[in-house]
Formats: sequence, C-alpha cells, structure tokens
Amino acid sequence: MIKKLLFIVLILRISSSLQAQQVTPVYLDVNKPLEERVENALSQMTTEEKVALCHAQSKFSSKGVPRLGIPEVWTDDGPHGIREEVLWDEWGGAGWTNDYCTAFPALTCLAASFNPELSLLYGKSIGEEARYRNKNVLLGPGVNIYRTPLNGRNFEFLGEDPYLASRMVIPYIQGVQSIGVAACVKHFALNNQETWRGHINVNVSDRALYEIYLPAFKAAVQEGKVWSIMGSYNQFRGEHCCHNNLLLNNILKQEWNFDGVVITDWGGTHNTDQAVKNGLDLEMGTYTNGLTSRSKLPYSEYYLANPFLKGIKEGKYDIALLNDKARRILRLIFRTTMSANRPFGRFVSPEHSEAGRKIAQEGIVLLKNEKQLLPIPAGKYNKIAVIGENAVRSLVIGGGSSSLKVAYEVSPLEGLIAKYGKDHIVQSLGYASGPSMYGREAKSKLNADSLVAAAVDVAKNADVVLFVGGLNKNHFQDCEGGDRKSLDLPFDQDKLIEALLKVNKNVVIVMLSGNAVAMPWVDKVPAIVQGWYLGSEAGNALTDVISGDVNPSGKLPFSFPKKLEDNAAHFFGKLSYPGDSVNVYYKEDILVGYRWFDTKNIAPLFPFGYGLSYTSFAYSKPTADKAEVNSDGTVKVSFTLTNSGKTDGAETAQLYVSKPKSAVTRAAKELKAFKKVFLKAGKSTTVTLDVPVSSFAFYNEAKHSWEVESGNYTLLLGSSSRDIKGKVNIQVK
Ligand code: BGC
Repeated sequence: MIKKLLFIVLILRISSSLQAQQVTPVYLDVNKPLEERVENALSQMTTEEKVALCHAQSKFSSKGVPRLGIPEVWTDDGPHGIREEVLWDEWGGAGWTNDYCTAFPALTCLAASFNPELSLLYGKSIGEEARYRNKNVLLGPGVNIYRTPLNGRNFEFLGEDPYLASRMVIPYIQGVQSIGVAACVKHFALNNQETWRGHINVNVSDRALYEIYLPAFKAAVQEGKVWSIMGSYNQFRGEHCCHNNLLLNNILKQEWNFDGVVITDWGGTHNTDQAVKNGLDLEMGTYTNGLTSRSKLPYSEYYLANPFLKGIKEGKYDIALLNDKARRILRLIFRTTMSANRPFGRFVSPEHSEAGRKIAQEGIVLLKNEKQLLPIPAGKYNKIAVIGENAVRSLVIGGGSSSLKVAYEVSPLEGLIAKYGKDHIVQSLGYASGPSMYGREAKSKLNADSLVAAAVDVAKNADVVLFVGGLNKNHFQDCEGGDRKSLDLPFDQDKLIEALLKVNKNVVIVMLSGNAVAMPWVDKVPAIVQGWYLGSEAGNALTDVISGDVNPSGKLPFSFPKKLEDNAAHFFGKLSYPGDSVNVYYKEDILVGYRWFDTKNIAPLFPFGYGLSYTSFAYSKPTADKAEVNSDGTVKVSFTLTNSGKTDGAETAQLYVSKPKSAVTRAAKELKAFKKVFLKAGKSTTVTLDVPVSSFAFYNEAKHSWEVESGNYTLLLGSSSRDIKGKVNIQVK
C-alpha cells in the first residue's frame, strides 16, 4: 500500500514538473499586463540584444530579439497610404507586385473636412492597409503647423490652427492603433520648412512653442495615446530635434509622460552622446552598408549601435539609459505585433475606396460660386471643356516619402467622363509641367504657346470650362526636400486662365494643391473649387461635388493670403523665413495664420475656416449657459442652426475666443470649438458647443506654466474666422 502511494506521489511530481516546463514565459503571455511582459522580456536579454533594438537593420526595419521569438519592427510611410516595398538598403522600389495600395486624400483635405469622425475612419482604413502589409508602425500623421504657404510639405499636415490639428489627429491615431499598428506622429518639432531642413536652427519663444507648435503633439500623446513619435531634421535651440534634451526628455517624456518610442527621422541622428542621453530610442536611416553611392556607414556603426554598446561596456553610459530605450521598444512590439487584440487587415478593399471618397467629398472646399454656375447636373450643358494638366496627371506619385504606388487612381477627367459622358466632354492640356526625373522637374517638350492656343480653341466652343490646375508633387512644389519658390501658380497657368476668360465667361477653377496659391484672376472667375490631393478616388469625389451629387462642406484649414508678404512669416523678411541658412527666427511669434491676419487687420484672399455650400445656413443669436465661470469650468454656447436653402447640406460652426484686455499679446481670436452639423433643407437644430475655460490660458514664460486670466472674454460664433454670426460675453472669475 505504502509503495503504491509513493509511486502515485512520484508520478504526480513528474507530471507537475513537466507542466512547469511547458508554462508560457510571461513575456509571451498575451493575457499578462503589458508592463509585466516588458520587464520579463528585458530581464532575459543580453546587453547586445538590447542595443540591437535601438537602430535600423534595413531602410525601414529594426531588429527584434530572434532568440526569444520577439519580432522585428517594420515601419512604412505614411501618411496617405502604405508606401511600396523598397530594397533592403536603398530607397528604390523592390519591384514587388503585391504592394499596390489605396491612396487616401492628403491630410490637408482631411483637416478641411472639420470632421473628427472621418479622421477615425481614415485612421482605421489606413491602419488596416498597414496591417495587411505586415507593418507595425505607420510613419504618420504629420502635424507640423502651416506657417508659410511655401513649405513643400504642408499637404502632409493638418493646417495652421493648433486646436483643429489636435482634434483631427486624435481620432486618426486611435483608428490606426485600433488595428494593432502604431501611429508615429511627426515631425517633432518645428519642422515648418523644407529649405535647409537638415540643420536650420529654429528660434521661437516658449509661448509660441507651447501655444502654436506643440499642442497637436501633446494631444497626440495625452489624448490619442500615440505609441511612437518621430523627431524632426531641424535644430531647436542649437540641438538637433532627434536628440534634443528639452523637447524629448523634458517636454515629451517628463511633462507629457510619453511612454512610447522616439524614432529619428531618416538620417536625423548626428552624435552618439546626444542620441544616448537626450531621449532618442530608435535610430533609422543614418546610411547603410555602402550599397548606395553616398553611404558608408553599416548598421553596426550607427550612432546607437556599436558606439553605444562600447560606451555601455566601458561604463560611459548608464545601463538605465539603455534599459529605458529597450523597454519602450518592447512596449511598442507588445502593443502591436505581439498583442492579443490585433485584428487582421484589409488591402485595397471596396470599403477603403468608399472611405477615401467620403473623406475627399467632405474635404473639398467651394471658394466662390457666382451666378450659381455650380453645380452642373448631368444634362445641363452640352459641351464641357476640361482644361489643365492636373485633370489627367497622377497626383499620388511624387512629393517625397508620401509618394504612393497605387492600385488605381481615378483622374478628374475620368471622373467627369463617367458622369457626363464622352460626347459631352472636350479636353485640352493647356499647359505642361514636364515629367519628374528623380523628383526634379524636366522641361516639357511641348510648346507652351501651342498648348494655350489649342485650349482657347476648345474653350471658345464650350458651354462651360472646367480648369483643373494647381500645383503638383514635383520638386519645389508640394514636395519634400524643397520649398516653393513663390506663391504664384507655376507653368504660366495665370496667363492661360486669363486667355480662357477672354473666350468664355463660364470658367470654373478647380485647384489641386496642398498649399495656398496667388489668384490674380480671382475677381474675374465665377467659381473656384479647392480640391487638394484626393488620392485614388480623386476624379469621382470631385465630380460628385461639381455635379451636385454631393453638397460641398469643406472649410479651409489655413488662410490664403492675397500676397506672400501678407503672411506673417514673410512679413518679417528673410530672417523670419527662410532664415540665414543657420538660423530662422519666428518673429511673428504666436500670430500664425488667421491670428496674424485678424490681429493686424489684413484681409486674406480666403480666410481660415471658410467654405461655401450649395445651400445657405442661418444662425440664431448664441447664448451661454452662464455669465460667470471659474477658471476650471466649462461654458456651453448654444444656438439654432437652420438650413435655410433648398439643398441638404452640412455646416461647420466655429467658436472663437477673444480677450480684449490682457496682460499679454493676444490674437484677435482663437478657435476653441467647432461642430459639423448635417441638416436637411429647411430643417433646424439646436447646436451646443462646449468650451473648457482652461483652453483660454496663455503660456506664461516667466512661470513656465499655463495661466487663465480672469476678466471679460468674448466668444465669437462664426461660419468662418471672418464671418462672425454672433457674440456672447462671459466673465472668468
Ligand atoms: C521624411 C519622413 C519619412 C521618412 C521615411 C524622411 O525623409 O521626412 O517623413 O517618414 O523619410 O521615409
């Protein structure tokens, strides 16, 4: 009997020790809390393995921990679609045939929709495309503030207002990350021009930094809970932003409690010591192993590779610095590739096309519409002339890192033909930009005068002319790596437009661009549509609006100046933009965009927040729920909005705050709330906008803190920053 019992005990022991051997390690257990998994993985890693996490292993990827089964990090651009696969060590395409993606509208268009729900849809859709392609970091969205219309990258960002950019970036991030893909908000910070972007040192006050240039990043971190952030190429107060102690350690990681990964912009690291100590976690793009002509540095010699390891081994760098970086990168991997809640993706699905079309429809802005030239329903006109290169040119290709290899792109001409029929469309190029050779523009071989003559001929005999022009994504236009040379339209489009107007009064201008352009003919044309870059569904969405199938509801996310010097950065001359090649001084301080126009009483060509509709809206007098409020309170402003026209449509009501008497310089008004409201023709609704009084604060430079002044404030309810429909005064105690 005893022998039998001993035998059973022995068997039980063996089986339980076998079981113990099969227990999943904590870091692999998706049900365990994130931080426990991170600590467990870290405790099993060698110093070499930790250092290997901190730098690239290819153009777009970095190592995992192969021995422990922790996967690599795979990043990809961003922010309008998932970039094609590139070669291991080079920027060139790898020639895969399974990476033709959906192109979504440019971020300027998303911002113009003023619709955070669409931003969520955008994020989810692009997140699914990234997930399908096995990417776990999406290099976007970009939230650098629109400071000058010359910036070649404005089309990748969310406009000139920190509040709008903040509200729009949060849902984008949430959408992407709900698919188990990390968003990487870029470029932190002050990357507001491409001229000398690799070294220009930005001089800006603390106040402008905190009030204008940082809020969208802060919202991304604290409300969007973004998992990674990209440093920018430029310098700030003498340090490159990819290893800038003030920006990365003090503000991002300490003030904002960011627990994600700081990734360099590609090639943005310059120095091991600063990279180790100043808050950088993952170094990308510093050159490769010699496979391209200008690159000598192999991945093992990256600033955060062997030089870092050596420094750790020699005791020069505290191991805690390495552990912190490794922890953050592990956290990112566990949040994405190794997460239990990671849905599957989708690629080029009909849902993505539909999402892209919807975002495009809502972002298109109607700038002018006299004599109701628009909309043009099918059958209204017999002959529609479509003139301009952008009617037929691909606008998803070019622009730098956001260039896309797409599954399809409906051009404006194709969209219009599908709607009106071949027999009713006559087309002429009108101007030619020339092909893009390695991003540079080659001169067109076509004769400019003959192109104009042919277009005029076509316009002469048409009932209406749709001119589809603007910028494109070649170098020195809307393109990374260089700024525009002037505010003017390129390729003599102004002359062409004047020539068309001489033979036909019914000219509709459709501007496809990511930037404001000068419009010397503005008073002579009856209709203008700002159509941005709209991605795969461009032609369909534009046609939806032109034909009236969709009522336009976009509002400008930045001001259009009449001339360049009216823009604040340019008003102060060259030191203010583009700088002296070493330094740039943001002399306009907090008065960026409409804050400048409205404070200085300069009339813009088209103001921030402006956009027309095919219907009209009436605003009742606004009321506040209280006349007096504490600095930690919230004011609710209500009014009745009526669609007073004959077409269903949407209006974005905007609430600005103004502080007439203040101890500090204040902008004439600042956006603090907005709401997009859809209303059937003839219908009314009560709209309430919530404004937290804390958002009235200014950044007190002396105290290094936000401060709400007591006293009188005026809340301005508007249909744009310049079309104020009503006011209400409140007292802050
Ligand atoms: C751009 C980034 C981009 C990266 C990778 C850089 O040149 O500034 O926005 O994500 O390249 O392509």
